[in-house]
Amino acid sequence: MNIEREIEKIKEDVLKALEQIKDRQSLMDLKAKFVGKKGVISEWLKRIKDFGEEERPKLGKLLNEVKNYITELIEKHETLIKEREKENKLQNVSFDVTLPGRRPIRASFHPVTIVMDEIVEIFRELGFFVAEGPEIEDDFHNFEALNIPPDHPARDMQDTFYIGGGVLLRTHTSPVQIRVMESFKPPIRIIAPGKVYRRDFDITHSPMFHQVEGLYVDRNVKFSELKGTLVHFAKSIFGKNTKVRFRPSFFPFTEPSAEMDIVCVICKGVGCRVCKNSGWLEILGCGMVDPNVFEFVGYRDVTGFAFGLGVERIAMLKYGIDDIRLFYQNDLRFLKQFS
Ligand code: PHE
Repeated sequence: MNIEREIEKIKEDVLKALEQIKDRQSLMDLKAKFVGKKGVISEWLKRIKDFGEEERPKLGKLLNEVKNYITELIEKHETLIKEREKENKLQNVSFDVTLPGRRPIRASFHPVTIVMDEIVEIFRELGFFVAEGPEIEDDFHNFEALNIPPDHPARDMQDTFYIGGGVLLRTHTSPVQIRVMESFKPPIRIIAPGKVYRRDFDITHSPMFHQVEGLYVDRNVKFSELKGTLVHFAKSIFGKNTKVRFRPSFFPFTEPSAEMDIVCVICKGVGCRVCKNSGWLEILGCGMVDPNVFEFVGYRDVTGFAFGLGVERIAMLKYGIDDIRLFYQNDLRFLKQFS
């Protein structure tokens, strides 16, 4: 038989052998037998040197072609086997279509976020726009422009987290009042929700908590408008039968200043531990913007009112929560009650 014919015949041998092969191991054995290091093709390549110089390149080329052909063939067969294996596996799996599905866990908002959104919404309906300011503030915006003199107790190291170089973590949202008035001309009607920081930690105080600030400036804004706005707010958030009272107070940036109380949500005014037997609970600070503040931002011929409230405090009263730390422990048993 002619030598080239003999080499061609290797292909036929492989094709025939492949017909019998059903699993990967025997396929690998076949591969080794024909195109492996000690396989049929390798043996043939070793024999090339016995042929004449003219025939050698021809035979070499032919052998390589056959080798590539076989390798490709085996690879194709391997993919086939793999696919068949996969199909067999799938056929053996059965699904119980009557089983109930797995319910995805539904996320919910944090109670502080819920109450903050509710507060903001009440004021937005009255025409207040949302404003924001930085949590890392400078002394000027947090204190000085708010008419808080250098020796005021609110500046005490006990309350403020100082970063250094006249920079600090804002202790209230009131600096947003200043930033808004610096950037915009009156009239102003803004609400500023955000985080504030104080060196304080017990069942009613947290070093980080949330406030909502309000500011209304225009010509001839009166104290009666402050009262009307805040009474409306208290009734919206605690229910329309909520009783409120205003008590004179002091803030350096408002004059006159007041604090608003609501009738104790626990004892309804009779007197209990939560309201310290007074029957009343303080919920916010407010007042008419002090003329000194307007001076700092260059406002003339206007009056206005401002207020600031603690979101956690409102949430605690609304939901009857007695420890502020519950808001920050991320205990799902607590958080899930507000979804
Ligand atoms: N900034 C005051 C505080 O944190 C609250 C306040 C705001 C009072 C605006 C009056 C006017 O206690």
